[in-house]
Amino acid sequence: MAVVAQAQPNIALIKYWGKRDHSLNLPAVSSLSITLQSLWTRMSIDFNDELTEDTLQVNDRGAPAMLARVSHCLDLVAGADRRRASVVSHSNFPIGAGLASSASAFAALVVAADEEVGGIRNRLELARLAGAASGSAARSLYGGFAELIAGEEQIDVRTVCEASDWPLEVIVAITADGPKPLGSGDAMIRSESTSPFYSSWLERQDDDLKVARAALLSRDFAQLAAVAEHNCLKMHSVMWSSRPPVVYWNSATLSCMETIRALQAEGRAVFFTIDAGPQVKAVCLPGDADAVAVALQQTAGVIDTMRSALGAGARLVDPA
Ligand code: DP6
Repeated sequence: MAVVAQAQPNIALIKYWGKRDHSLNLPAVSSLSITLQSLWTRMSIDFNDELTEDTLQVNDRGAPAMLARVSHCLDLVAGADRRRASVVSHSNFPIGAGLASSASAFAALVVAADEEVGGIRNRLELARLAGAASGSAARSLYGGFAELIAGEEQIDVRTVCEASDWPLEVIVAITADGPKPLGSGDAMIRSESTSPFYSSWLERQDDDLKVARAALLSRDFAQLAAVAEHNCLKMHSVMWSSRPPVVYWNSATLSCMETIRALQAEGRAVFFTIDAGPQVKAVCLPGDADAVAVALQQTAGVIDTMRSALGAGARLVDPA
């Protein structure tokens, strides 16, 4: 019998960029994110005696390029001597395009795989396993505002506030729908070894986290906006100053940033953040969400927009 789990992508407000340990996939910096509600990945797993190798389908197609990573993650959850698995993944948003699809995929994968072997782990243990597959996936185990603390040997993850404590909204402006040119893992390796800004990025991260945490706890939108935009632009400065440069933006990415600056000038409570891709995520107070969505839809180069409230962490769901 297949087991199905659902997870939503998360968007980092204070970013993870760089690894302390590559073989364990331990992040070099702590991070803070919001888990979305209406974008999702549903992952179905069936450990099956009759299979001689793992199989993977992503959105109704074979996905051989991702299979090794998925198999390795299943080994971590169920042991290398496990039965082979049939894995079927569906997402309702573009994958591999800087929308954190690996976060929702691996978070859902560990929840479903753990259930297949008896549901033996707690949320933090599952987050550590998801993080070993993709650092940001650890945060999608948690709903609302999640903080990931990067330790020397392992990560800790917790919810700082629930989605209902501060119901922000996110408008995602899609500016390109193809796969990104360079995966974030490879791009991080390049930044670590070539960006002259990498060491100061590491040094200042805890300061940004402290400001963001305080902003969250006092529901200070302006303070959260300022530190999140600053942290995002610092991460992209590290990318841009890598050799060869890592530039995920396109001209519509910049146009969306201009749109958001104009909305801010009108007094709208909104800020931008951008990850390893050209999409722009606008985080706003619910009262401004309609105006932000309309303005982004009308921005040159925007192909589509998606809208989401904040949501819950990864969980089991009934098979459809
Ligand atoms: C820019 O979690 O995709 O989205 O651990 O190599 O799989 P791996 O990296 P990944 O990196 C996410 C980077 C980011 C920022 C963030 O989500 O914090």
